[in-house]
Amino acid sequence: MRVSVEELLRAHGRPPREVYFDNENSGYVPREVVEEMIPYFNSIGYGHPSITHKPGWEAYEVLYKTKDLLTKVLNAEGLGEFAFVHSGTEANNLAVLGHALANKGRGGKIVVSAIEHLSVIYPAEEAERLFGFRVVRVPVDSEGFVDPEVLKEFVDGSTSLVSIQMVNHEIGTVQNIFELSKVVKEVNPRAVFHTDAADAFGKIPIDLKKLEHVDMVTLSSHKIHGPRGVGVLFIREGVRVEPVLKGQLSYEKLWPGVENVPLIAGFRKAVELAYRDFDLNVAKMREARDLLVRGILEKVSDVLVNGPSDFSMRSPDNANLSFLYVEGEALTVELSINGVYVSSGSACTSRILEPSHVLLAIGRKHEEAHGSILFKTSRYHTREDIEYTLEVLPKAVDRLRGISTIKK
Ligand SMILES: Cc1ncc(COP(=O)(O)O)c(C=O)c1O
Repeated sequence: MRVSVEELLRAHGRPPREVYFDNENSGYVPREVVEEMIPYFNSIGYGHPSITHKPGWEAYEVLYKTKDLLTKVLNAEGLGEFAFVHSGTEANNLAVLGHALANKGRGGKIVVSAIEHLSVIYPAEEAERLFGFRVVRVPVDSEGFVDPEVLKEFVDGSTSLVSIQMVNHEIGTVQNIFELSKVVKEVNPRAVFHTDAADAFGKIPIDLKKLEHVDMVTLSSHKIHGPRGVGVLFIREGVRVEPVLKGQLSYEKLWPGVENVPLIAGFRKAVELAYRDFDLNVAKMREARDLLVRGILEKVSDVLVNGPSDFSMRSPDNANLSFLYVEGEALTVELSINGVYVSSGSACTSRILEPSHVLLAIGRKHEEAHGSILFKTSRYHTREDIEYTLEVLPKAVDRLRGISTIKK
């Protein structure tokens, strides 16, 4: 039986405050971003960007201005192309399957880390099934790091593509992408290096001139308070990628179908806001995250920190904690009743009660992975939000531990 949100609110009452930490799965879109999008639905730029009339030209202008801004913030002048798709998932599919399509006669190895987002792992497996590539998974250490020396052992002359994310979406591990991509090119200069930066963009600086060995980069709009429905793949000049979807040629050569112009206008505004005060924005997420983690570790017993223990090696917004003797799913519900919104296990698979492949890869036991909660702070969190969470959370954990069948 379905229960409406209104019915749930009637049953439990309205919480005194609402604090949203599920910024991994999607998040708050600020008013400036929404206002930027509205005219593009019916006043300007509502035409197709490939067609030669005024509404089309206006739409086209949104696309190239967004690409210009990305070129600036990522220091990518003269390096290659940005392709618009409709999500980070599509960008990863284009990188992996698009590469496989362009190189399908050659076969070879696709090397991924064991903790990649499933939108990298599944297309890699599809490339294996459809085109005879061989997928190899590089293990990570207990904090999620890929050791360049270990990666080196997995790369050889037959390696076609390596995909290692810049920041892990669940445990926040920041990889040394410069070193990892350099090692790959030392062994095989022809291997293509892709990094999924969906969770790094807007949180750690990315300079594509410095990352000279990186060939493809994935971005996603809703990870930086932009609207859902916009993804981007950067492709360095000379790297061969073929469209995965087939259809009428649009402005975007690599992804047929008309572009989400209003949403791309919103994405551009979100990039502008994220980069206008980049250091300040990052400092705000870090401060909220640190306050939250410190408070939880002081107030709640039997908590494991998943991911890097050195917080300078972790994305500034990320806290992933396992509350032992508690089911993560039950805790998300208990917290939600109190207005605190988080996700459990693997954020992107939390509707499936399977332990996260990321947590298992760093050596967490099933029960530890099941009790994990992912918090992602943002520049919009206030001290009061964190204090409220620190009031509500210990009580929720205590209550659930009191009725839990999982005992010490
Ligand atoms: C690292 C990473 N890559 C890819 C994605 C998929 O992006 P999207 O939600 O835009 O499809 C996510 C999702 O949240 C992510 O965290």
